[in-house]
Amino acid sequence: METQLVELGLTDWSAATPNEAWIAELEAGKVLYFPRLGFELLPEERSLLTPNLLSPDVRNISLDANGKLKGAVGDEAVQRTAAAMVGRFRAQATRLIHGLLPHYAPALRLAPTSYRPAQVETRVQSWRADDRRLHVDSFPSRPNYGERILRVFTNVNPEGAPRVWRVGEPFEDIAKRFLPRAKPYSRWQAKLLQALHVTKSFRSEYDHLMLQLHDGMKSDMAYQESSPQETAKFPPGSVWVCFSDQTSHAVMAGQYMLEQTLHLDASKQYNPASSPLAILSRLTGRTLV
Ligand code: SIN
Ligand code: FE
Repeated sequence: METQLVELGLTDWSAATPNEAWIAELEAGKVLYFPRLGFELLPEERSLLTPNLLSPDVRNISLDANGKLKGAVGDEAVQRTAAAMVGRFRAQATRLIHGLLPHYAPALRLAPTSYRPAQVETRVQSWRADDRRLHVDSFPSRPNYGERILRVFTNVNPEGAPRVWRVGEPFEDIAKRFLPRAKPYSRWQAKLLQALHVTKSFRSEYDHLMLQLHDGMKSDMAYQESSPQETAKFPPGSVWVCFSDQTSHAVMAGQYMLEQTLHLDASKQYNPASSPLAILSRLTGRTLV
């Protein structure tokens, strides 16, 4: 498999400029990797580097769109320090994306920013929730009708441990492999799921197929082990960006990462024909949303 990583030498979050070639690679599902773009922690933020900051039973700490911190334990000073750290990452990640992809800027919808202090290797999870298996992001309760999931990640591990990912084959290859095995879509079932509040809104055929790809990939151990893939080690002090609804990814190891999600209507891409919605519509010959 041709590498799915595109390495870029940017050193300043505010200095990114658009480049036609990288934009096409990002929209083709590749990972833009910035090995020299670190997120600097302030001295008082070092004490936040502990999994003990997580509230019991949550996976991530998050800062919502209104600036409210969720999922962290600690007194008011700790909460304030954590909110400031995550908020600063949000500002830098947003600036980076605006610089790289100015055409997206007016159309982006900010999702919560997350801080993940838990160790990946020791997490116990059901196969469906296990992000150590290759997958494309698709969330059972949250239909998105093809809206894109653009993510900015940075590793802030203080001990030098990389965030280790596997990156898999291009989206169209995944779709061609798993669409023939996908269960057919049922509108009445989608209505039922909505009525029962299993889904927050009506699950479209697009959302159904994306979940079928997600589950098809994660449940197939032979695919996990022997499909085309590469290992990527993102060291502390690096940033990487991808469309996680399109890039096949799995996290194998690491601890302490910040992540910003930005949503984008697929029609607002530089090349809307490269989106998962466009690819699945073309392969099925149907309107899926
Ligand atoms: C994921 O999005 O599947 C997990 C990414 C990570 O935790 O590094
Ligand atoms: Fe994921």
